[in-house]
Amino acid sequence: MKTGSQAIVRPARNVRGSVALPGDKSISHRYAMLAGIAEGPTRIENYSTGADCASTLGCIRSLGVAWERKNNAIEVQGRGSTLTSPTGPLDCGNSGSTMRMLSGIVAGQNFTSEMIGDESLSRRPMARVITPLSAMGAKIASHESKPPLRISGASLKAIDYKMPVASAQVKSCLLFAGLFADGETRIEEPLRTRDHGEVALRAFGATLKRESAGAGNVLRIGGGQRLRGIEARVPGDLSSAAFFLCAAALFPGSQLVLSSLLMNPTRARLLDILMQMGLGIAVTQLEEAHGEMVGSLHVVGGKLKGATIAGGDSAALIDEIPVLAAIAPYSEQGIEVRDARELRVKESDRIAAVATNLRLMGAEVEEREDGMRIPGGQTLRGAELDSFGDHRIAMAFAVAALRAEGETLIRGSESAAISYPAFFDTLEEVTER
Ligand code: S3P
Repeated sequence: MKTGSQAIVRPARNVRGSVALPGDKSISHRYAMLAGIAEGPTRIENYSTGADCASTLGCIRSLGVAWERKNNAIEVQGRGSTLTSPTGPLDCGNSGSTMRMLSGIVAGQNFTSEMIGDESLSRRPMARVITPLSAMGAKIASHESKPPLRISGASLKAIDYKMPVASAQVKSCLLFAGLFADGETRIEEPLRTRDHGEVALRAFGATLKRESAGAGNVLRIGGGQRLRGIEARVPGDLSSAAFFLCAAALFPGSQLVLSSLLMNPTRARLLDILMQMGLGIAVTQLEEAHGEMVGSLHVVGGKLKGATIAGGDSAALIDEIPVLAAIAPYSEQGIEVRDARELRVKESDRIAAVATNLRLMGAEVEEREDGMRIPGGQTLRGAELDSFGDHRIAMAFAVAALRAEGETLIRGSESAAISYPAFFDTLEEVTER
């Protein structure tokens, strides 16, 4: 139940039912941006309902791209590679994806754009895009490499760039900028991150090459390529499904059906980890759409074992670690998270937020600079928690609350709408009390 900006979550007996997830956030952003710079119309069905993806649509409209909502789809009239100078700032709201990825496109335009964000986004690091885009020839002004960014676009030159941080947002930013560059841009990522940028670029008709390089990848993209519009349906968001999968993992005998879900291998590590932890997951259908795998899952809860998340897994599970950590005390052996320093610079400091809320519920947590260790076999009690304005923290603790003793109140629960406005209603529908 949601009252204003607070949600009260009562303990549950079981989780059962079926859930159709809204479109994946990562793919929605990329489809909208590429549709804007493609030639001809694009139709996007099941576009993410989250506020973040609405921020991307708002920004592309400010850049002269016409779009409308029609029969549950977004229809975008692509402008080709030339956008129009915005009359005001591009408001990215809470969305790091919007600011980082769109900066790669506006850097290649012959006008200046100002990109702004809310209080949380204004604290997030942007040097990761400022440094390489500046090397390509864009002029970017900021205060201490934080938003707002004032980006004066230019005729970009291709670069050969080794990314210091494993970030799919930065990789997509540079691939998009590469489209506007003179020559072939080469990007090396230190660890394999989600590949929706690459997959979407190919779907819109671009050519790019990939080679694996150690634990990472090298991508090459030639400048001056023209994109053409597509008709696509965005697969259900796997990171939003994570909350229901983890809720099911809390109850032996739970049963959930998740249909038309994104099954991209660079995102699906969550399914392996949850299966290792004891959740029964059967893939009942699998198909490909525009290079993305889409499937349906039948999920059955069992005994919940522990897990260690480290190295490449921490990058692959970066959005799911909060909810895995939130259910960790209920597992037999607990969860250890290492190599996840990036969590400190997400929408909130997610390591601190998880540790604070778990402790308020009476759990023992060892917080570390790059992760945490949460022992298993703990009993939690309902408590008054804060979302810290972070959608994934609000939803993670709604899940943890299902197995606690007594009610949990989550302040700032409205932040769930950043990625999943219907979350609390859908959670109610599948919980049995
Ligand atoms: C995203 C990449 C990740 C993730 C974010 C979405 C994307 O961020 O946390 O929610 O769509 O590329 P980083 O690229 O900063 O790791």
